[in-house]
Amino acid sequence: MKIVLASKNKGKRREFENFLKALNIKVIPFEKDIEERGLTFFENACLKAKISFEETKIPSAGEDSGLVVDCLYGMPGVFSNRFHEKGNDRKNRKRLLDILKGRPFNERKARFVSCIVLFTSSDKYFVFNGEVEGFIDFEEKGTQGFGYDPIFLYPQLGKTFGQLPLEIKNRISHRAKALMELKKFLIKNESSFS
Ligand code: IMP
Repeated sequence: MKIVLASKNKGKRREFENFLKALNIKVIPFEKDIEERGLTFFENACLKAKISFEETKIPSAGEDSGLVVDCLYGMPGVFSNRFHEKGNDRKNRKRLLDILKGRPFNERKARFVSCIVLFTSSDKYFVFNGEVEGFIDFEEKGTQGFGYDPIFLYPQLGKTFGQLPLEIKNRISHRAKALMELKKFLIKNESSFS
């Protein structure tokens, strides 16, 4: 069986491949530029998956993710990768730390969110969500991962995602949770799509 992943992000593709290889599912990349103009993670994931299905006619997945900070009413949210006008990881993190300066720990609650949408025909799709809760730390810690990882404190381990080896992050992350749900669905329904 194969599914198409509508993403240009190589890191995401590797995570999908790792999760699905045990099921003998081949992940084929669909790398077209698709503007993320939705107002929710679901809308963006849906847009990517739908365009990919329409062009390939193969079951297609799209994923959108980001960081939601409670005291900022959900920002940066769907704007996570372009929170700073220059839109690079280091500047995005600095902007967030600057905005939260002076806020005590209990006001720094945040979560990473991932939404995966799988189109299996032109009018049928399935949605898989994952979240992980934490706090925005007072400074950067660790160099692992990407994006907001060095400032996202995972309280159960007392470390930021930037301080965790990738194998650990990939067991607890928002994307890992959404991917687990997708995997369960594919195991149950494999025969319908192969
Ligand atoms: P997109 O899903 O490729 O549109 O980008 C999501 C953006 O959210 C990334 O550029 C990061 O800024 C942020 N993000 C999503 N997942 C993670 C993660 O696992 N660690 C750190 N930042 C993340």
